[in-house]
Amino acid sequence: MGVASVKSVVSPKGEMIGSRSELEILPEWVHAAEMVLGQPGVVVLLGGSDSGKTTLGRILTEIWTTAGRTVGLVDGDIGQSSIGPPTAIGLAFISPKNPLPPHPSPLTMYFVGSTSPPGHFLPLILGTQSLVQTAIAQGAEIVLVDTTGLIQGAPAASLKWHKLQALRPQHVLALQREDELEPILRLVEGQSGLEIHRVPVSSRVVHRTQAARRAFREGRFREYFASAVRHDLEWKDLRFSRLWLNTGRRLDRDELKVVGVSLQTMPLYAEAGEEEGLVFVRGSFSRAALYQVRNALQVSDVLVIDVEELRGTLLGLHDGDGGFLALGILQDFDPEGGTLRVLSPLQDPSRIRGVAFGSLRLEASGKELGDAPWR
Ligand SMILES: Nc1ncnc2c1ncn2[C@@H]1O[C@H](COP(=O)(O)OP(=O)(O)OP(=O)(O)O)[C@@H](O)[C@H]1O
Ligand SMILES: [Mg+2]
Repeated sequence: MGVASVKSVVSPKGEMIGSRSELEILPEWVHAAEMVLGQPGVVVLLGGSDSGKTTLGRILTEIWTTAGRTVGLVDGDIGQSSIGPPTAIGLAFISPKNPLPPHPSPLTMYFVGSTSPPGHFLPLILGTQSLVQTAIAQGAEIVLVDTTGLIQGAPAASLKWHKLQALRPQHVLALQREDELEPILRLVEGQSGLEIHRVPVSSRVVHRTQAARRAFREGRFREYFASAVRHDLEWKDLRFSRLWLNTGRRLDRDELKVVGVSLQTMPLYAEAGEEEGLVFVRGSFSRAALYQVRNALQVSDVLVIDVEELRGTLLGLHDGDGGFLALGILQDFDPEGGTLRVLSPLQDPSRIRGVAFGSLRLEASGKELGDAPWR
């Protein structure tokens, strides 16, 4: 096994790195790949933004499949996604027989609902763990986990530490320019059954601006929603998550009127749980009176949402067992009629039982419209 075993790799950004002369393959990477071949298992790839993680993942995958191993690729980068669209973790299988395409088709996905980790650690960690388990259960001999470039500061340490606790990998591949990963590596160094491979960054890595990153995400969304069709769904058939709808007691018309006086607009729908209240209105409302609404509903927190601002919200559509079916874009939300209209590439909506609300809004063209209104 050596450098010569890697023939060509297409860049995860879709550029053709068609020949070995353009793609730098460092001997330390090949050595780490060989160490993994000696003890196959779960491999977590860590590195900052623009450190070449995804490209290295592709090089490793080619080395391992050339050596006859079936590789499960778990794309835990929810922003610069290479498997499936952004906001979801994707799992793809690469077997020795099938060459590695620029964007491998996901076998399955897990909805996180955001293009960056803050505020979404739980689904990100749970989802990565779930897809790693699926990969192992379905016969992957090596599972490679690509990650986001969030490596600095306490939140990053928390995310990576908890992820490593959940995954219990046999190998961590630490792609660093200097010692930027050391604060994270110190947290797990010496853990039994874990081998850390510190490897250098290629000098050919291309830095990408925020605008280029956004354009990449929008392109991935556009491609995903290109074949989208409209579906009308009924609330009564659905379970909602992230926006915790249908968890409280629904207010009757008289109660809505009381809330309406405070908000200076008649609510379309409201519910109150033990702690939180949720109110839907159409159009503007008086934010100054939110404390009065809290008092009226006897809750400590209240969320008032203008349904017009929900348009474009990214949704994760799930089956009755919580299994991911597809992403959707909310087109219309009618709390009075108890219906919602979604745009999704899923052709048959009959299995949709769960709707998870994401934290961003999109146009069907892929254009990002900003945060969802409750963030
Ligand atoms: N070994 C390499 N040889 C030549 N070019 C490379 C190499 N590694 C990365 N690049 C270039 O740098 C770009 C960024 O690399 P890559 O996407 O792998 O980094 P990343 O760390 O995964 O980035 P992100 O933070 O967006 O996830 C690639 O599109 C490619 O053009
Ligand atoms: Mg990447």
